[in-house]
Amino acid sequence: MRLPLWAQTNVSIASEGPLLFGVDYYPDQTPEDLWEEDARRIAEVGFTNVRIAEFAWALMEPAEGKFEFAWLHRAVETLHKHNIAVILGTPSAAPPPWLSAKYQDIFEVNAQGQRLYPGGRRFTCPTNPTYRRLSLKIASEMARSFADSPGVVGWQIDNELTLGSSMRCYCNACQTGFQAWLRAKYHDLETINKTWGTVFWSQTYTDFTQIPVPLPSGGDPNPGLALDYDRYQSYANVSFQGEQLEMLRKVCPHHFITANNVGLLDTIDMRDLYRDLDFVAFDNYPGFFEMLLHQQSSAPVPPDAISALSAMGHDFARGAKSGKPFMIMEEQSGKAGQRSFGPQPEKGQVRLWTYQAIAHGGMGVNYFRWDTATSGAEEYWHGMLNHDRSKSPAFDEMQQTVRELKALGGEVLNSKYVAETALVFDYDCSWAVTIQPGHFSLSYLPQVQSWYGAISPSHSGIDIVGPLSDMAPYKIVFAPLQYVVSEAQAAKIRSFVQSGGVFVTGFRLGAKTDTSQMVRTPLPGLLRDVMGVTVEDYVPIYSAKQGVKFSAMLACPDATCTLWADILQTSGADVLGTYTAGAHAGKAAITANKFGKGKAIYIGGDLDVVSLSRVLPSLAASAGIQQLIDVPRGVELTARTAGGKQWIFLLNHTADAQTIGLAKSFIDVVRKETLNGKISLEGYGVRILQA
Ligand code: GLA
Ligand code: ZN
Repeated sequence: MRLPLWAQTNVSIASEGPLLFGVDYYPDQTPEDLWEEDARRIAEVGFTNVRIAEFAWALMEPAEGKFEFAWLHRAVETLHKHNIAVILGTPSAAPPPWLSAKYQDIFEVNAQGQRLYPGGRRFTCPTNPTYRRLSLKIASEMARSFADSPGVVGWQIDNELTLGSSMRCYCNACQTGFQAWLRAKYHDLETINKTWGTVFWSQTYTDFTQIPVPLPSGGDPNPGLALDYDRYQSYANVSFQGEQLEMLRKVCPHHFITANNVGLLDTIDMRDLYRDLDFVAFDNYPGFFEMLLHQQSSAPVPPDAISALSAMGHDFARGAKSGKPFMIMEEQSGKAGQRSFGPQPEKGQVRLWTYQAIAHGGMGVNYFRWDTATSGAEEYWHGMLNHDRSKSPAFDEMQQTVRELKALGGEVLNSKYVAETALVFDYDCSWAVTIQPGHFSLSYLPQVQSWYGAISPSHSGIDIVGPLSDMAPYKIVFAPLQYVVSEAQAAKIRSFVQSGGVFVTGFRLGAKTDTSQMVRTPLPGLLRDVMGVTVEDYVPIYSAKQGVKFSAMLACPDATCTLWADILQTSGADVLGTYTAGAHAGKAAITANKFGKGKAIYIGGDLDVVSLSRVLPSLAASAGIQQLIDVPRGVELTARTAGGKQWIFLLNHTADAQTIGLAKSFIDVVRKETLNGKISLEGYGVRILQA
């Protein structure tokens, strides 16, 4: 990471502080006679930067090999004149019609085997060599043209790779790419046949070219092949990006390079995608989460369900590059909508979302978007200006937020987010559970999300880590639905617990090897001794219900198991909960095993959300996690530290004022006032306290 960003650019805004505050701007979609006014108004808000051009391929290359950047140079110059730095987006998410018409093999084929068509965006294949060549060509021409342009500070490669109507491609080019990837991974067919167990259903391959991709074939695919295909698609996208990255490093050595993605979309392994980029940037649309939650259930959506999704996205973004500060490349600024409008952010919410990103370790926020499009598929997606170019409802709030954050200064904004708790997010588990859910309603991401939602009120800071991350910095590590366990991961968990850590996991632990075969030993396979239990039976839950009664240590009202119950037989572990129904009544449901200096806890039942949010914080508390300040439900707390100082962010995600009791005196560093005793936090309000 090359902070401060300004130091390496020729933009004279060093006085603006260490953060990027900006807006996503579309000069390509705006009459040129409005650019000057736009640049002036963008500067007046206090923004330091814009991101532009990520969908402007048709204007930059109107015919094959004919490049026109003069208009974009004029746009950059106009912005630069107003001291606005520019992040340029490479345009490979939306090829122009001449390209689609000429190159008919570039289209993505979806999981049903249907080819996509041009007319939208993100309809191309990540493997196709022609599409890669043309994408690299336009990006290279752009890079050469802007490498030394005053005002340009960095790059965003492509736009939200894989976020489209279908997330993966199954075309002929991907099949060939998959076969080559398999050859590099396994070397020979004998190993592949053995690893996948292709003898089942007569699938023994005698030539690499016979290996299919998981398209409809009258029966489910081999799970090992399907898991490798998901890994291949992740790799294909990372290497698609890698070609542009390698070129940009050479041509624009003074610019930073990032990408914008949706943190919790599991098609690409984000840790791979961001490995060689300068920092993580991603897009955050809480109003969109709200719409999704409304689609999933008719029950009212509690405010902390939405805020937890954003918080988890932020923690994920920070964790994807081992704690480095991240940026929000697109933050919702108005009603989010494509065909339907999402909710208008309430007064205070855009400010709250901005502070939430900073509270979780963000170093910058770009609002999406400056104006609201008057044509195209996103006319309903509101920006900072309305269709008539008047200020949108949250315009003044964004201006105030930018001013406040700049005034906070570098010390707070460059401080470090510290976490004592970790939550594992493992792509292999996500992919393998999607391929074979075990119960038709079971999926990985919602499990991780409900565990995150249950532990976040502990307010101890949560890092989202990978299966092989170093767990030593944490007091407690949670790993829900850890269905796939590799030998390397088992060894990490073993030594973490041995040296004093608390590891909390749940049903289906270690049922699969990392080649997606069932393990041949009693479950939980490689971790049987660490957990101190054997899974005697596993039970998907349909009509016959199951419940859990807790022991005195957890002392919670009885729980219901929603989708699953692993029936546990202890060999040394203490029983913290027992099943209540049917033949398994009285058998162990939750256990805690002392192993080495630490403890390994197995939650065998898929606990209802309310019970989960009682049990997990109580386990965290017994692992020594202490709440800094008691806050009511719907108020989020995070802490950042630097040089022995600590700042506590209080974020009220509810519409109502909340009262919080302080045990000692603090300074509110935004309002510059001293606080004691009971304080009030207005609806959607924010406070940053320093002891
Ligand atoms: C995404 C994209 C943007 C735009 C917004 C709003 O995050 O990156 O181009 O489509 O959503 O839909
Ligand atoms: Zn393809």
